[in-house]
Amino acid sequence: MHLVWDLSVILQTFLICTSSAQPLTAKLDAGWWAYKDVVHGSFVPVPSFWGLVHSAWNLCAIGKKQSPIDIDTSRLIFDPYLTPLRLNTAGQKMGCTMYNTGKHVSLRPDKAHLVNISGGPLGYSYRLEEVRLHFGSEDSQGSEHLLNGQGFTGEVQLIHYNQDLYGNYTEAAKSPHGIAVVSIFMKLSENSNAFLNRMLHRDSITRINYKHDAFLLMGLNIADLYPDTTRYITYEGSITVPPCYETSTWILINKPVYVTRMQMHSLRLLSQNEPYKIFLSMSDNTRPPQPLLQRCIRTNINFNKPGRDCPNNRVLRPQYRVNQWLLK
Ligand SMILES: *[C@@H]1O[C@H](CO)[C@@H](O)[C@H](O)[C@H]1NC(C)=O
Ligand SMILES: *[C@@H]1O[C@H](CO)[C@@H](O)[C@H](O)[C@H]1NC(C)=O
Repeated sequence: MHLVWDLSVILQTFLICTSSAQPLTAKLDAGWWAYKDVVHGSFVPVPSFWGLVHSAWNLCAIGKKQSPIDIDTSRLIFDPYLTPLRLNTAGQKMGCTMYNTGKHVSLRPDKAHLVNISGGPLGYSYRLEEVRLHFGSEDSQGSEHLLNGQGFTGEVQLIHYNQDLYGNYTEAAKSPHGIAVVSIFMKLSENSNAFLNRMLHRDSITRINYKHDAFLLMGLNIADLYPDTTRYITYEGSITVPPCYETSTWILINKPVYVTRMQMHSLRLLSQNEPYKIFLSMSDNTRPPQPLLQRCIRTNINFNKPGRDCPNNRVLRPQYRVNQWLLK
């Protein structure tokens, strides 16, 4: 017994020595950040500190194309050349593993089923890597993006990487035109979206109550997650977690998906921690909005044709102007 204890002390010392001898890589503390202050325990950087604690994360503090943003619909620019987004699933249903990462509900398709998107604002083909859920402790908050200052109860982010230029997500995330995120707001209703219903059904979601829990879901069709619209808003931004690389094209779908009160309740009961640690709800896992600065937000919603699809039910004029010298 004594011997075993001694050995583990030696092993630990050895581990500490070898790890401190290595340079501090991003990998070592890739998970050392949080969305909100923890009442108990040691310091973990919240969003306002992400860019200050680690030089590899400085874009989180000094970046000029950060996400999420608050979308001011009066600043939308109608771009008639934006084509509809193309979703390619080869008609296949997929198997996915749903995880509690301690920060998000994360769904990853198995490698056998390739889903990709192209078209719209995208110049390349992007492969689906992960579906990630952000959600609030209250119904009026939980989305990362805001619309005219208003939050939604949640936001589904479909994270894709550029498969034409890069071999995997990790490489693409830090490279030009690496990432495309399709973002869909979540709203409360009596009925839920068919895809989310599979994920958030009591029999599924309660299997990932604690950090590191995983649950396999079969026969999912990603097309079920997309609302019935071709309209979207797009801008150039960043990934919304450290290291905040400015490599993401964002595509915000102009219709929400619906979840039930019960499903929101189940989400709020997920813990950020392992079962033997204190319960800390995962909800409000959102980065606050970042400054828009000089970026433009384009849309294929033609506000000249009034329709029910307008994000704020207001008819706006397109703001595209032909350069005056061209007309002379
Ligand atoms: C996109 O996905 C479809 C269906 O899985 C596949 O047939 C196609 O080759 C993919 N495109 C690229 C560029 O990989
Ligand atoms: C991703 O691709 C890079 C470059 O090709 C490679 O060095 C790295 O090992 C890959 N990472 C994973 C997780 O496969």
